[in-house]
Amino acid sequence: MTGAPLHAASDTASAAPPAWPIPALQQALAAQLPGGSVEVLERIDSTNTELMRRAREGHCAPTLLVAEQQTAGRGRLGRQWLSSPGDSLTFSLGLPLAPRDWSGLSLAVGLSVAESLQPELPASALPLKLGLKWPNDLWLADDRKLGGILIETASFVLPGVGSGFPSSLWAPAAATAARYVVIGIGINIRPRDAQGFATPPACLQDIAPEMDAPAALLRLLPPLLEGVQAFAAHGFAPLRTRYAARDLLAGREVLLSDGASGVAQGVGADGALQVQTPAGLRAITSAEVSVRPRTSAAGAAAVAVAVAGALADAGAADDADPAATAVPPAAPPSKAI
Ligand code: BTN
Repeated sequence: MTGAPLHAASDTASAAPPAWPIPALQQALAAQLPGGSVEVLERIDSTNTELMRRAREGHCAPTLLVAEQQTAGRGRLGRQWLSSPGDSLTFSLGLPLAPRDWSGLSLAVGLSVAESLQPELPASALPLKLGLKWPNDLWLADDRKLGGILIETASFVLPGVGSGFPSSLWAPAAATAARYVVIGIGINIRPRDAQGFATPPACLQDIAPEMDAPAALLRLLPPLLEGVQAFAAHGFAPLRTRYAARDLLAGREVLLSDGASGVAQGVGADGALQVQTPAGLRAITSAEVSVRPRTSAAGAAAVAVAVAGALADAGAADDADPAATAVPPAAPPSKAI
């Protein structure tokens, strides 16, 4: 482990900083993933990088790793994820998983987080709806980015019978396809300076002024754990209707990073974004292209045209400098979802 430890679940409770409800987090984790552990670090390069490092070293137990500060936080598509202590919630959940189909996992994760942090859809314009910008972003309804999700996997040898890993984490037919998945989530908690971000940042306190990072984590963790297990068993399809209620792209003109544009028509049973283009209906998977709304919710002009492989896109808490990103080595096989 390369981070500065603040507290591990095996330490005495008195060592815990009061702000992080570690026993409650540990209880929530153990209820779903026996043998799992919770760690809160004062500082580390990236919680995703650390869990991927550990997985490559053979440590594949379920782990919730929280960092108060990341020195090399990573976003999707090689971007940086910038955050400062106390202003955001940054954590990764690592666990062995073998769903029949991985497609739609990031949507399932985003949906779970959105529904936890804003259980009721607002009946009026305020508070702003907490929605999803396909495939990995949490946005508020005014097109400001509240958070993002980075999911990576590493190859994994299934533990034997009696190892203590719950069998509900993988579909039996797909047992040989088990991987260690690292679900990294970053959420802006307090207001931040919008300068330097192509997508203006939102923060959780815009819609829940009383919420801090520990409270947000405690609220979202149990449903997230349940949601990941349900995804492993049933895939994304059963979540499609609920996703539609949070879909901030639906019905809007979007720009694809391959230069095409069209109108977003929701997502398919596999989580692929359906886009009606002049050439016909396209099903977009996140591996293919990135997507931006052509106009902001407020009706402003297009914010950016993304170019495949060299995105100038920036989220709320990631900057536009892909070169500065630390990408872990790829062996054994790892992949971003
Ligand atoms: C994105 O918006 O592109 C995804 C951002 C994901 C950021 C989180 S913060 C915790 C975890 N550790 C990382 O380095 N990244 C993820």
